[in-house]
Amino acid sequence: MTEMKKVSEMSSEEIKEAVKQNYKRVAQPSGGSCCPSPSAEQTEQTSSSCCGPEAKASDPRTSYAEELGYSVRDMPESATESFAGCGNPVAVASLKEGEVVLDLGSGAGLDMFHAARRVGETGRVIGVDMTPAMIEKAKYGAEQLGLENVEFRLGDIEDLPVEDGSVDVIISNCVINLAPDKGKVFEEAYRVLRPGGRVMVSDIVLETPLPEDVHDDISYYAGCIGGAILKEEYLQLMRDVGFEDVWIVEEAGCGPAVSAKIAAYKPK
Ligand SMILES: C[S@@+](CC[C@H](N)C(=O)[O-])C[C@H]1O[C@@H](n2cnc3c(N)ncnc32)[C@H](O)[C@@H]1O
Repeated sequence: MTEMKKVSEMSSEEIKEAVKQNYKRVAQPSGGSCCPSPSAEQTEQTSSSCCGPEAKASDPRTSYAEELGYSVRDMPESATESFAGCGNPVAVASLKEGEVVLDLGSGAGLDMFHAARRVGETGRVIGVDMTPAMIEKAKYGAEQLGLENVEFRLGDIEDLPVEDGSVDVIISNCVINLAPDKGKVFEEAYRVLRPGGRVMVSDIVLETPLPEDVHDDISYYAGCIGGAILKEEYLQLMRDVGFEDVWIVEEAGCGPAVSAKIAAYKPK
């Protein structure tokens, strides 16, 4: 059996390639979830994220329906079967008619579709994802819904294919933990937001450091746990690029890895 390379020995490009391959699989029909199969010991060490015993928290058929006040049965199966989020940023983003929304790591498009309904015909939702199979799947879902206010861009959230100051709200669901350079993601988010614009992301953050074997395991990294950083470090990285009023709106889970909804504002 070939030994897998440790994450700490991989370049950023190698990590991103492994993440891409994982989400190419998740984009297939019945491609499975984002999560690796943990050993019993690792489950104990990491419990409570999208990969822990509370995995139903990321099931769009339960949490989304409750939080958004309508059924996800209205959504195409292509979007729900490949959903890989760990929260529901749209539920707390207070989106308004006419706003321009950017979804970082939009996957099969479920959050974009909810957002598109909220911002209406005068608004627009842009999704950026680096996995071509996810972009294709999200485009298919948008066609099924007949949405004309959504747009999909293949790209890296560390180098956004988006104009400076052109976005009102940034959402993201369980993606920033996957970026090797999270500071760069926040710099880019700050650049593309208009003054006074806001961020509302769901992501996995850590209460305490992960055991080294979990942190160094690429399947855990691609499964949204291994790349997660300490909560305070995450918030500080956002403040460092200029965001203010950075705070945790909600938090779920009880292990070292928790799912948090995080808000931040670009000064006016
Ligand atoms: C855990 S999934 C979440 C997808 C979606 N937000 C959802 O809630 O279903 C992570 C997604 O982020 C994308 N992704 C990961 N790292 C990325 C990066 N550096 N740039 C762009 N997309 C990225 C993956 O291709 C994948 O579609």
